[in-house]
Amino acid sequence: MTLLATHRLSKDFGGVHAVRDVDLVVEPGAITAVIGPNGAGKTSLFNLLCGVLPPSSGRISFLDNDVTGWSVSRIAALGMARTFQNLELFRGLTVRENVQVGAHRHLHAGVVSAALRLPRHGRAEREASRRADQACERLGLSEVRDRLATALPYGLQRRVELARAVAAEPKLLLLDEPMAGLSGGEAATVAEMVSGLVADGLTVLLVEHHMDTVMRVSDRVVVMNFGEVLADGAPAAVQADPAVIEAYLGSDDEGAA
Ligand SMILES: Nc1ncnc2c1ncn2[C@@H]1O[C@H](COP(=O)(O)OP(=O)(O)OP(=O)(O)O)[C@@H](O)[C@H]1O
Ligand SMILES: [Mg+2]
Repeated sequence: MTLLATHRLSKDFGGVHAVRDVDLVVEPGAITAVIGPNGAGKTSLFNLLCGVLPPSSGRISFLDNDVTGWSVSRIAALGMARTFQNLELFRGLTVRENVQVGAHRHLHAGVVSAALRLPRHGRAEREASRRADQACERLGLSEVRDRLATALPYGLQRRVELARAVAAEPKLLLLDEPMAGLSGGEAATVAEMVSGLVADGLTVLLVEHHMDTVMRVSDRVVVMNFGEVLADGAPAAVQADPAVIEAYLGSDDEGAA
């Protein structure tokens, strides 16, 4: 079964073809990486998939539903969660509270309204609390879960954001540069944690510039350039593809070397 598929998905911003005729297929239970130079359209693609941006044309199918034009919250409720390229944690909330926002999957979309509407009583809260604790544990955050999230070192903050998405117990998790700004050791830890989640049945779509990590953990690599898919295949095949090498050498994307 295909988990997610796009058909000629496109997004234009004025004259810029941020995403152009992308046919992407995501099979369940694997890590599919989306790589490409800066401005290639990776984040725009994520924003289309999770409903933040309406496509200019093309279609998106997720879990056998045509979700083209669906709202963020409706797509989230069906089972998609994402993290952001720039950290978006709530000031004034603890790690656990930040993560618990994600555990209310139906509220997940409007994170701000979700934060304001955290239910204080009842079964839904207990369930969200259980999911939050579990996600904290998966991401190695149990010991810091009562600390203010924004007071933690940057590397741990990135993991809080990951835990928040995991707490939604999604079918598909979109990670936009979860290792950005991390040291080699921290990035390896995150990679290991993500691999562990996938081993337990989660499906991940990963945008990342840490090339060695991408090549090591991904089952499949999709390369974007100028909004289009340039290559799609096994990591080794993609790495050896002359068109891919050319795209990277032709850019000054240092992270991609
Ligand atoms: N909201 C927007 N309005 C106008 N242009 C945009 C908008 N968002 C993205 N773009 C443009 O679309 C193109 C793709 O941008 P996008 O952020 O998707 O790239 P990316 O692959 O995620 O890059 P990076 O690796 O730097 O994060 C770029 O030319 C960018 O300037
Ligand atoms: Mg981006």
